[in-house]
Amino acid sequence: MSVKFSVNGKPAEFDGAEDAPLLWVVREHLGLTGSKFGCGIGACGACTMHIDGAPARTCIMPVMMAQGRQITTIEGLSRNTDHPVQKAWIALDVPQCGYCQSGMIMAAAHLLSRHPEPTDADIDREMTNLCRCATYVRIRAAIHLAAKLARAAHSASEDARERTFPSEASGQRGHSKLRAPETNAKAK
Ligand code: FES
Ligand code: FES
Repeated sequence: MSVKFSVNGKPAEFDGAEDAPLLWVVREHLGLTGSKFGCGIGACGACTMHIDGAPARTCIMPVMMAQGRQITTIEGLSRNTDHPVQKAWIALDVPQCGYCQSGMIMAAAHLLSRHPEPTDADIDREMTNLCRCATYVRIRAAIHLAAKLARAAHSASEDARERTFPSEASGQRGHSKLRAPETNAKAK
């Protein structure tokens, strides 16, 4: 069976056993080895990729379920390793052996897309990946730092937009002062 999908914005195709795990196809067939094989039973999260924007444990996902879907791996999370989560991970030197970390980063990126200012409780609830080196304390700190970096980047881009398109920005600010035209004035 031929399965067609997209990986990191590029079309991909697999012609083989439809129940082959997506992780195996991405690593062995497409050569993207950033996602890891840990437990093979959907428990550890080392194999986490985003499927249509949501995290999935791809060691237990048959490739046929990827038909027509958009897959993002750690290699496609950002262009220059500059996703806020990646920057925070580097700044705080999070990994120890590193084996679980691509899955952790993918899970954290999705967490931040849903919770731009996550609490410790949000992090504990959403980050269910396992780390044998117990880097959990650094992971939590890095997620908080990534949230700050993402907010700073967002306000910097808003400022730049305002400098580039001042009339548009001031027009938007002034919208609340616009009054509806008095279209029925002559009807009296
Ligand atoms: S390798 Fe997929 S969840 Fe552990
Ligand atoms: S850093 Fe070693 S398993 Fe997580």
